[in-house]
Amino acid sequence: MNDKAPDPPLLEVQNIDVFYGGIHAIKNVSLAVPRGQLTALIGANGAGKTTTLKAICGLQPPRNGMVVFDRQNITGFAPHRCVEHGLVLCPEGRRIFPDLTVDENLALGAYTRNDAEIAGDMQGMRDLFPILKERATQLAGTLSGGEQQMLALGRALMSRPKLLMLDEPSLGLAPLIIDRIFEVLKELKSRRVTILLVEQNARKALEIADHAYVLETGRVVNQGDPKILLRDDTVMKAYLGG
Ligand SMILES: Nc1ncnc2c1ncn2[C@@H]1O[C@H](COP(=O)(O)OP(=O)(O)OP(=O)(O)O)[C@@H](O)[C@H]1O
Ligand SMILES: [Mg+2]
Repeated sequence: MNDKAPDPPLLEVQNIDVFYGGIHAIKNVSLAVPRGQLTALIGANGAGKTTTLKAICGLQPPRNGMVVFDRQNITGFAPHRCVEHGLVLCPEGRRIFPDLTVDENLALGAYTRNDAEIAGDMQGMRDLFPILKERATQLAGTLSGGEQQMLALGRALMSRPKLLMLDEPSLGLAPLIIDRIFEVLKELKSRRVTILLVEQNARKALEIADHAYVLETGRVVNQGDPKILLRDDTVMKAYLGG
C-alpha cells in the first residue's frame, strides 16, 4: 500500500452521454471535482450545463459512462439516493416552498439528518445569511428573488452536503445581490465546502473557482486554471463579452 496515494476527487464523471429522446445533449463529457475545492462549469445557453448536473444526481441518467462519487459508482442512482449520499443540487429557479416559512424551509433541508447539531446549523445559517434571520417567520414565497436564492442555498447547506451543486445561483438577480451571492460562495470556499458551480456569469465564476470546465454544445471544449481561462481569447470572446 502506498500511503501517499493522492486523495481521489470527490466526484468523477467519466465519458457520459446523455439523451433527451433522440437529442444527444451531452457527448462524452468527463470532469472531476476535488474535495474542498470550487469547480466551475461555464458555457452559453443550451450548452448542456443543467443536463450535466441532472445526469450526476440521477434526474437524467446517462446512457453511457460513469458517475463516481465518494469512491462509489452511483451511475443511475435515483435522486433521493444521491441526496442520502450527500450529493445535493440547488436547482435553477431556486424551488423553495413558497407556502412555508423561511425557518420551515431551512429545517426541511435537514430532513436526511437526525443528529444533535441541526439547531446549531440553523443558527449558523442565520449568521451566514442575516436576512434569513430577519425573515424567519415570513412565508418564503413573499421573499425577493435574491432572498429566495439565499434561502435555497441555506436549505441545501442544512443537509451538510458532501458536494453542493449550484445551477446558476446568480440568474436574474440584481448586480448587488449577485455580489452578495458570490461573497457567500467565497465564504463557503474558505470553509472547504466542495462545490460544483454552473454559471453563465463566466467571469465571476472564473474569479472564484479553483478549476473550470468550458462546455459547448454538449462537449467539454476547454478546461484548466481559471486565471488562464480568464486570459484566453476564445473563452473571452465566447463567454466574457470580448
Ligand atoms: N427536457 C428536455 N427535453 C429535450 N431537450 C432538452 C431538455 N432539456 C434540455 N434540452 C436540450 O438539451 C440541451 C442542453 O440543455 P441544458 O438545459 O442542459 O443547457 P444549459 O447549458 O443548462 O442552458 P441554460 O444556460 O439555458 O440553462 C439543449 O439543446 C436543450 O434544448
Ligand atoms: Mg441550465
